[in-house]
Amino acid sequence: MTGFVSDLILWYKENERELPWRKTKDVYRVWVSEIILQQTRVNQGLSYYIRFVEQFPTVHHLANANEDTVLKCWEGLGYYSRARNMHHTAKYVSQELNEAFPESYDELLKLKGIGSYTAAAISSICYNEHRTVVDGNVFKVLTRIYGIESPINTAKGKKQVEELAHALNDGNDKGTFNQALMEFGALQCTPKLPNCAACIFNQDCWALKNKKVDLLPIKEKKLKIKHRYMFYFLIKDQHKQTIIQRRNHNDIWKGLYQFPLIETSKNISVKEILASDDFERLINKQQVNITSETILKHQLTHQTLHLSILSIELNSIVHLNDSEFQVVDVDKISNYAFPKPLSGIN
Ligand code: ADE
Repeated sequence: MTGFVSDLILWYKENERELPWRKTKDVYRVWVSEIILQQTRVNQGLSYYIRFVEQFPTVHHLANANEDTVLKCWEGLGYYSRARNMHHTAKYVSQELNEAFPESYDELLKLKGIGSYTAAAISSICYNEHRTVVDGNVFKVLTRIYGIESPINTAKGKKQVEELAHALNDGNDKGTFNQALMEFGALQCTPKLPNCAACIFNQDCWALKNKKVDLLPIKEKKLKIKHRYMFYFLIKDQHKQTIIQRRNHNDIWKGLYQFPLIETSKNISVKEILASDDFERLINKQQVNITSETILKHQLTHQTLHLSILSIELNSIVHLNDSEFQVVDVDKISNYAFPKPLSGIN
């Protein structure tokens, strides 16, 4: 798309909110605003910013305040480590750097409480360094307009947006571009029901053209890893027979064979398993002798299987009244397809 940057900057000049930190390039004030905006929305952070710079107008004032006073000023804003780190950094800048903030991204990054996002914001706004800020708003705007469908919480999606934002930020004023993009996301390209009819990019927006505005940006669901504890019983009787089961329910191992299984979602002891009704059903009050226990861990994409295979000797196999179960000779079990972690065990 041609003219994206110039159109965006023009829009910003006409629509930006009047915010005190946008009227200055004083690095101390920009730093304060960026720390507040790390985890706080502009509307909520504004009054805190005003009070903070009134109470601590320079880095020297902040350095010389006591921590209680700084925290009191931060009260209600949350994430108090931000205030403690600022106080620490103010003392460092004031005492060790002679009140002069570092003037590059790399040097800013070394200060406590300043990560890559904040260093990019400060260095682009105050020193016009070519650093690009990518926050939630930037992800939203660029994935929609440019049709980036890679999930933004994956390395690939993040890189795609960061590289695009960086390439677009090719004008004379790196900080203004960054702030314009963030502002566009905050005011125009909103998460829900953006007013696309009134958008300056509505002729070019990929998501609008493809009816995917509501769907972008895409976030991959981070599935919780499920832990399954599976106790298998390789039962041998005096006739060298065993019992196997065909898995008929719909899951990863449907159609494969396994040894009789007791599964739990909690990590419980073998002793508890052997005392369970399910186990009693398998042995029908017979005396059993456990000859070995093999413990395996099997990692699937969204599941960790903790497998325990107990070899058990008893007098005679119990014929279960269930068509899933079959009694077979132990030395024939290799004729049946078992899930990988169970194959080769007999
Ligand atoms: N979020 C973080 N920094 C910002 C800034 N400078 N303008 C608007 N939103 C922001």
